[in-house]
Amino acid sequence: MKNKIKKCLFPAAGYGTRFLPATKAIPKEMLPVLTKPLLQYGVEEAIEAGLNTMAIVTGRGKRAIEDHFDISYELEHQIKDTSKEHYLTEIRDVITNCTFSYTRQIEMKGLGHAILSGETLIGEEPFAVILADDLCDNDGDAVLTQMIRLYEKYSCSIVAVEEIPMKDTNKYGVIAGDTISHPELDSGSLVRVNDMVEKPDPKDAPSNLAIIGRYILTPDIFDILRNTKPGKGAEIQITDALLEQAKNGNVIAYKFEGKRFDCGSVDGFVEAINYFYTKE
Ligand code: G1P
Repeated sequence: MKNKIKKCLFPAAGYGTRFLPATKAIPKEMLPVLTKPLLQYGVEEAIEAGLNTMAIVTGRGKRAIEDHFDISYELEHQIKDTSKEHYLTEIRDVITNCTFSYTRQIEMKGLGHAILSGETLIGEEPFAVILADDLCDNDGDAVLTQMIRLYEKYSCSIVAVEEIPMKDTNKYGVIAGDTISHPELDSGSLVRVNDMVEKPDPKDAPSNLAIIGRYILTPDIFDILRNTKPGKGAEIQITDALLEQAKNGNVIAYKFEGKRFDCGSVDGFVEAINYFYTKE
């Protein structure tokens, strides 16, 4: 199928200031939840969804990411045929099951700008975006798998949303729209988006449905992003670009099944560690 989604973009250029000093020399995407870096959880979710091409937008000081998704001959040599070899199983599987390509975002001009920087790795095809600090888990299909299934039906951009307390709307992109019925989903799970605002004050928020870090985007988003003026925080916002698509009815918001941890905050990070620790 021509429009099959194969690529997943990971914006990973941010500074991770909320995790200083840990993130002084280590990219925030490499912080581990138990023994696995956040970014590897995201990559595994993409592989599970059937994607095999990982496109990572990095920045200065992020070389550890490239080293992580590569063979370490020294380590392989040390550990091969020892009782410790199983520690490498998961990362070996990741490396053999997909390819990685990288580009750098030279200036930090926002998430929309980071996604636009990834155009060179994506080209003219629909693609997924995972923000690794939103860590998701589900006993059934992974969140991205659920979203890809919807893309195959609706062929438009899809954003994952969840209900949040109204007081928190200023931390997220917030959407509003009309419910679409879907035979296999709970009513209210799908919304045809007609409004979206980046980090509104609670009094200005169109709803309490917040975008979390999973997107399926159609490639026309790149031209829109090129023409998107800086918005909230003087940054180029993906939310503003998506609003342009939404005006033509081309964005669906999906209340996904599963858990999501905001690992961009210390509280969410600790919650994720506790969750995965008790789960194992
Ligand atoms: C970004 C997006 C925001 C979205 C959030 C999800 O914000 O701009 O719309 O709700 O990710 O985590 P950030 O968390 O990078 O400030």
